[in-house]
Amino acid sequence: MKKESDIKTENIDVIVADDSHEVYVDLILETIANAAKVRGTGIAKRSHAYVTQKMKEGKAIIALDGDEFVGFMYIESWGNKQYVATSGLIVVDRYRNQGIAKRIKHAAFQLARLRWPKAKFFSLTSGSAIMKMNTELGYVPVSFADLTDDEAFWRGCKGCVNYDVLERTKRKYCICTAMLFDPANPRCIMIGKMFEEKCRGEMLSPKIPLFN
Ligand SMILES: CC(C)(COP(=O)(O)OP(=O)(O)OC[C@H]1O[C@@H](n2cnc3c(N)ncnc32)[C@H](O)[C@@H]1OP(=O)(O)O)[C@@H](O)C(=O)NCCC(=O)NCCS
Repeated sequence: MKKESDIKTENIDVIVADDSHEVYVDLILETIANAAKVRGTGIAKRSHAYVTQKMKEGKAIIALDGDEFVGFMYIESWGNKQYVATSGLIVVDRYRNQGIAKRIKHAAFQLARLRWPKAKFFSLTSGSAIMKMNTELGYVPVSFADLTDDEAFWRGCKGCVNYDVLERTKRKYCICTAMLFDPANPRCIMIGKMFEEKCRGEMLSPKIPLFN
């Protein structure tokens, strides 16, 4: 394991994961579970097979420092692919506050936009870091009614400590903030375009190979 003082962010690759990254899956799941414990929240639990499948399908982003695991995020689609969510964002403790989550989130968003250009992108989160990043990408706050009604998505909330609130309000409100990027909304598109411009200059530099 690298010492914190030896970490250089320019050496960290943010790439689309593939089946060669299955070796990291248990560590990814453990890191996500431990972070949820620290935050005192629940999480939509995912199995080894589920995350491996995401990697095989090219629906996950992994950050690596050499062969050391740094961070991860995966893409899910709901409601017959009309809705997409980038989920499970995690960065290993000693790599935090250096812009790695931002690079992962941006890469996942860009990858998902390429694959599902007409889908609405939603996010349900209590994390202020995620809200910040969503806003930068063009997401806007919405009510829960604007999210997918796919039961499979909402089942993921059952692992959360606040699930009783969601049940009591009949899925109208909860602790999390709902956010949506709607490609039919000109404001979202405008902000998205600004983001893409920025990507051309920064995010997709040769040092950050998005597609391998
Ligand atoms: C949340 C998390 C992914 C952030 O990772 P990170 O690499 O440290 O984030 P970055 O350095 O890329 O920061 C991205 C933005 O979020 C902000 N941010 C980061 N951590 C934050 C925090 N704890 N609270 C508020 N804002 C935060 C940063 O200031 C930055 O915003 P800016 O561009 O306006 O400066 C990381 O702390 C983590 O893995 N936490 C545990 C899991 C988790 O909470 N996941 C998200 C919910 S599913």
